[in-house]
Amino acid sequence: MAQQRGHWGSKAGFILAAAGSAIGLGNIWKFPYITGENGGGAFVIVYLGCIALIALPILIGEIIMGKTTQQSAVPAFRELSRPASPWMGIGWMGVLAAFLLLSYYAVIAGWTMHYVWLALQGTFTGLDAEGVNNVFNESAASPGLNLSWLVVFMALTTFIVAGGIKRGIELASRIMLPLLGLILLALMIVAATSAKGGFSQAVDFVFSFRADQLTADGVLEAVGHAFFSVGVGMGTMIAYGSYLKRKSDAVGTSVLIVGLDTVIALMACMVLFPITFAYGLEPDAGPGLVFKNMPIALLALPGGSFWAVIFFVLLFVAALTSAISLLEVATSYVVDELKWSRLKAAFIGGILITLVGVPSALSNGSHWFNEGFADITGKNWLDSVDYLVSNIMLPLGGLGIALFVGWRMSKSIRQSAFSEGSGLAATYGAWCFLIQWLAPAAVLIVFLNAVGILDLGIFAEPGDTQAEIEAAPELVDPDDLE
Ligand code: PHE
Repeated sequence: MAQQRGHWGSKAGFILAAAGSAIGLGNIWKFPYITGENGGGAFVIVYLGCIALIALPILIGEIIMGKTTQQSAVPAFRELSRPASPWMGIGWMGVLAAFLLLSYYAVIAGWTMHYVWLALQGTFTGLDAEGVNNVFNESAASPGLNLSWLVVFMALTTFIVAGGIKRGIELASRIMLPLLGLILLALMIVAATSAKGGFSQAVDFVFSFRADQLTADGVLEAVGHAFFSVGVGMGTMIAYGSYLKRKSDAVGTSVLIVGLDTVIALMACMVLFPITFAYGLEPDAGPGLVFKNMPIALLALPGGSFWAVIFFVLLFVAALTSAISLLEVATSYVVDELKWSRLKAAFIGGILITLVGVPSALSNGSHWFNEGFADITGKNWLDSVDYLVSNIMLPLGGLGIALFVGWRMSKSIRQSAFSEGSGLAATYGAWCFLIQWLAPAAVLIVFLNAVGILDLGIFAEPGDTQAEIEAAPELVDPDDLE
């Protein structure tokens, strides 16, 4: 079985595909808006800590599990423990999480495609902030638009995954990831040169530490987002790692993937916030942030429609390379476990996920999935599923993977898989400490604190934080910019 398994064409191919999985809507759509909602600096620092001390060690663990077993998540747990081991439950939860995540991710990705289309048609030309706001609200609320783009996006994702590892996933990432880096760099230069005062305000907002802005829920969100953004906790990287040769370096590549992911997230903030401040817009606009603020700013530039098209193409490309890794989790599971062909697995998986995505597509337009659902959970369907996956399933899955790799997996296999092919073998002891103790303890404490079982009392109350944001006019006052 193992010898017929598809493999990455090269080390660079794997790194690009894995970075393509990590870099997605999480970096450009979600990170800036949750940073905005959580008051900036302090949240960013906690997030960076979570990335380095929790997400990176777990990513190394996932890649090690994949390359050692040459199997996707569920069978990898089995092979490294025993048949019918309860540890396999973590793998199943991962498959479910990937399934749910892609179901709403594809809806947001659909918005990015719709925006490319709108920008191409020149829809935003001449609109003021209110006009752009209306475009977003109308688009997000239209059932027809959301459903159609969901289907188009899922069809594209499915075709790429059905195309296989080397010809499908690797080829797509090789073209798309460098393109994304270039576009973001160009936009950052545009933001730095055209948004003048906004840039220094943005630097202050993103990088200065204001501890009083941090709530327990904000810390949980930072942990959850570290998992979401790197893409660990659901076995995506077990699957991607399983297409690596056994001797490949897991550690150096993980550092590189996490580094790229973080740089892109911070760059996205440095594109979005300068513009937000320079135009007197709100940093805490929620999920609509990029869709509401970017068109206004880009259209004000010379050649504005062109930049707007480019920006939304960028978002779309980022979403697509991540979506293929999510579909790959389910696909590799049925290929490995049920011995289906890749084509059949990808198509059936793609269709099922599209169906599960329907309520997300209707989340802003149907009373039932919007206010109706909000009466039960406090959020509409899409935001509720996002909360469930990002803040609960991924941290729990990550906790399980850390405990498994740290305590259950054979020591000698673990050590040799860590050291093989790696120039960073000397960090083995430190990594063991992180994955055995620090990562599990941190996830557990933050989690119990946020769900109210444990009250550490060290974080601000949500009410205080909101008041703080509002009481900080120097951050958002457009008059200062003249
Ligand atoms: N990391 C992706 C993003 O930032 C989303 C993702 C999550 C992809 C989990 C794979 C696994 O958008």
